[in-house]
Amino acid sequence: MKPVLISPSILSADFAKLGEEIRAIDAAGADMIHVDVMDGHFVPNLTFGPPVIEKLRPHTKKLFDVHLMIAPVDPFIQDFAKAGADILTVHPEAGAHLHRTIQAIRAAGMRPGVALNPGTPASVIEPVIGDIDLVLVMSVNPGFGGQSFIESQLRKVEQLRRMIDASGRDIILEIDGGLNAETAPRAIAAGVTAIVAGSAVFKGGPDAYAANIRALRPQVNA
Ligand code: DX5
Ligand code: ZN
Repeated sequence: MKPVLISPSILSADFAKLGEEIRAIDAAGADMIHVDVMDGHFVPNLTFGPPVIEKLRPHTKKLFDVHLMIAPVDPFIQDFAKAGADILTVHPEAGAHLHRTIQAIRAAGMRPGVALNPGTPASVIEPVIGDIDLVLVMSVNPGFGGQSFIESQLRKVEQLRRMIDASGRDIILEIDGGLNAETAPRAIAAGVTAIVAGSAVFKGGPDAYAANIRALRPQVNA
């Protein structure tokens, strides 16, 4: 079995020194960098957009796992590609034409992902499972770091695990929100292959990042 990928969410980093923070989590063993883009409209919070991502790009070679919490998405797809996003994940509720958006992300040279809010069923993935490279299960309602893990989402992970296995495709099954040393092993047991963690990685400052990332990977500690 492939080791689970850890994708620290820079939402919990020090925004005054994002470049430094990204270099620190890269050195601490992050597999991808999770970049949360929020527009104050699709979710009740604001972060940053393509110009900031473009400036962060030279600080690491790790994949930029960009999670868009914006609506609409389509007018910005080219901008995220140019800024250096590798995976671009969208919420189906952000636009009327999910399949078209996925095609546009692929055509722009990125890997498309679909994010499911806690209230959005796994079945939304069925018609597009042949077209995507990542499914992101939100285990909190999106908008903020540091919220509590919503247990019911583990059942959805199990359902998606079965759907992905049946598809025979190589799709990353990622979970985001409230992941820590206690919840991550349970998400892995349910079938995820990637863990997003913000507060659990960035707590304690740069000296703690490597241990914080290790704590999310139970099979490596064993
Ligand atoms: C929430 C974001 C998450 C967030 C996770 O809307 O999508 O990526 O940063 O933060 P923690 O790990 O603190 O729950
Ligand atoms: Zn996220």
